[in-house]
Amino acid sequence: MQRSLVLLKPDCVQRRLMGQIISRFENKSLNIVAMKLMNVTPDMAKQHYAEHVEKPFYPGLEAFITGAPVLAMIVEGLDVIAVIRNMLGATSGLKAASGTIRGDFSGSRQMNLVHASDGEEAAAREIALYFNDDEICGYEPTLTPWFKADDE
Ligand code: CMP
Repeated sequence: MQRSLVLLKPDCVQRRLMGQIISRFENKSLNIVAMKLMNVTPDMAKQHYAEHVEKPFYPGLEAFITGAPVLAMIVEGLDVIAVIRNMLGATSGLKAASGTIRGDFSGSRQMNLVHASDGEEAAAREIALYFNDDEICGYEPTLTPWFKADDE
């Protein structure tokens, strides 16, 4: 099993889309093992988006991500990092394919509704940034035998 840090961003919270997005993850049989509504501080934003801090769009990105609460989640599943990124679609909602979350709900490259880790190293770093160990509630879904074969 793999884990990904997922943020439902301020646009998702403000637009009342959290329930629809969470439903997509649940419908896909992914397992949510941690979740909290929280404010991202400017310091956290700089750590989370360290690779973007020097980019021209960073000041706007920081204002956006700190401007209203986010719903932070840890989502677990087989190949979950790739599975969720496929579900999200291209970074810009203007380019994301129909049927993906961003393709269906976003018309912006900044306000793209959801962040998800782009690799295992990023997932470990981002999970540690947003959650303490005692906030993670790992469990085995009782429906697991109906979600996948034993050898998957
Ligand atoms: P995310 O997947 O969270 O990773 C970095 C974020 O920066 C991205 O989603 C967008 O919200 C934002 N972003 C990426 N490219 C641009 C851009 N060119 N202009 C403004 N925001 C951007």
